[in-house]
Amino acid sequence: MRIPEDVRKDIPLTSEVIYFDNTATSLTPKPVIEAMDEYYLKYRANVHRGVHRLSQMATHRYEESRKVVADFINAKFEEVVFTKNTSESLNLVALGMENIFKPGDRIVTTPYEHHSDLLPWQRLAKRKGLRLEFIEGDDEGNLDLSDAEKKIKGAKLVAVQHVSNALGVIHEVEELGKLAKEEGAIFVVDAAQSAGHMEVDVKKLHADFLAFSGHKGPMGPTGIGVLYINEEFFDVFEPPLIGGGTIKDVDLDGYRLTEPPERFEAGTPNIGGAIGLAAGIRYIKRIGLEKIERQERKLVRRTVEGLDELGIPWYGPRNPKKHAGVVSFNVPPLHPHDVAAILDERSIMVRSGHHCALPVMKKLGINGTVRASFHVYNSLEEVETFLGVMEELLRNLK
Ligand SMILES: Cc1ncc(COP(=O)(O)O)c(C=O)c1O
Repeated sequence: MRIPEDVRKDIPLTSEVIYFDNTATSLTPKPVIEAMDEYYLKYRANVHRGVHRLSQMATHRYEESRKVVADFINAKFEEVVFTKNTSESLNLVALGMENIFKPGDRIVTTPYEHHSDLLPWQRLAKRKGLRLEFIEGDDEGNLDLSDAEKKIKGAKLVAVQHVSNALGVIHEVEELGKLAKEEGAIFVVDAAQSAGHMEVDVKKLHADFLAFSGHKGPMGPTGIGVLYINEEFFDVFEPPLIGGGTIKDVDLDGYRLTEPPERFEAGTPNIGGAIGLAAGIRYIKRIGLEKIERQERKLVRRTVEGLDELGIPWYGPRNPKKHAGVVSFNVPPLHPHDVAAILDERSIMVRSGHHCALPVMKKLGINGTVRASFHVYNSLEEVETFLGVMEELLRNLK
């Protein structure tokens, strides 16, 4: 596939707007919509319950989608649980692992987490009398690895994002996972901003639990997410939701849960969503993760270079190797929302605000940023148009 031309052809919206809000959610290529259309038009039925052929077909496609996800992250079929999104996946981990903690146990995370990888641990710590500790890091988002080593020693659980949605920094998840495993700590990875943008391999990352959303990097629909559960935890992790589909046997006075992954998916799942997610992953694989990463890095390089030329301050790592496809910046004295509104007038879609990472904003002493974030279908021409609008904006400010 030619990058980005051929991908742009599959996404009609790319010819109408400049979409730089990929961190929030990505645009949807036609093959993903077609796969979901096929389900709704040709074999719309519930899974796992029916003998009739539509239900058999829906079940087959739903489980085939699980296999696609499992291969994508190098997991086993039964280790992949479909959820609603990253937030739900991370909440499930905190709830399902609650009983392993004793008062005084430590959970270690970073100051850069999205609220969805912070609040569940804060609540768990409060409920169980745990200590929540944060690995030190600088204003660019770089973690202090020697502090990580100290803090992870003796920790019960370590939860880290792969890539920061606020600063675009790629964290050393592999190294942190190795440290966590050496200490016998449970290692949780928030892969919301890496899955679909770069390789995510649960084995290489030493992940015990890993969460991501279908609607971001993998170009799938909204409402479908993934929770990877390392099979070693099948009997430790207590499913927070139980009921239909999760049982082997039930009496009026009790139940026996069935095997994973069904044990962890109560009720009718998002069947069309799972099928759409698998179509998104197939699409990503057809392009190739290396090409995606290369394109995003090219766009980031030109964006930060252009912002530097204009004297616009941006946040995030100065080391280009650690910088994923997200650029956060500000145009003082303008409020980030005003900058986003001006860009919208030129059909450039960016995000503004605290990006669900208020501790990051507080650390930097700002109330928010403007954030341009890329996917493989974005082009260098779009970045040049964006920089042109920024230049004009600065001229008008004088
Ligand atoms: C790093 C990170 N974690 C978690 C989330 C939450 O994802 P979702 O809203 O799909 O649950 C996001 C969303 O932007 C994110 O960037």
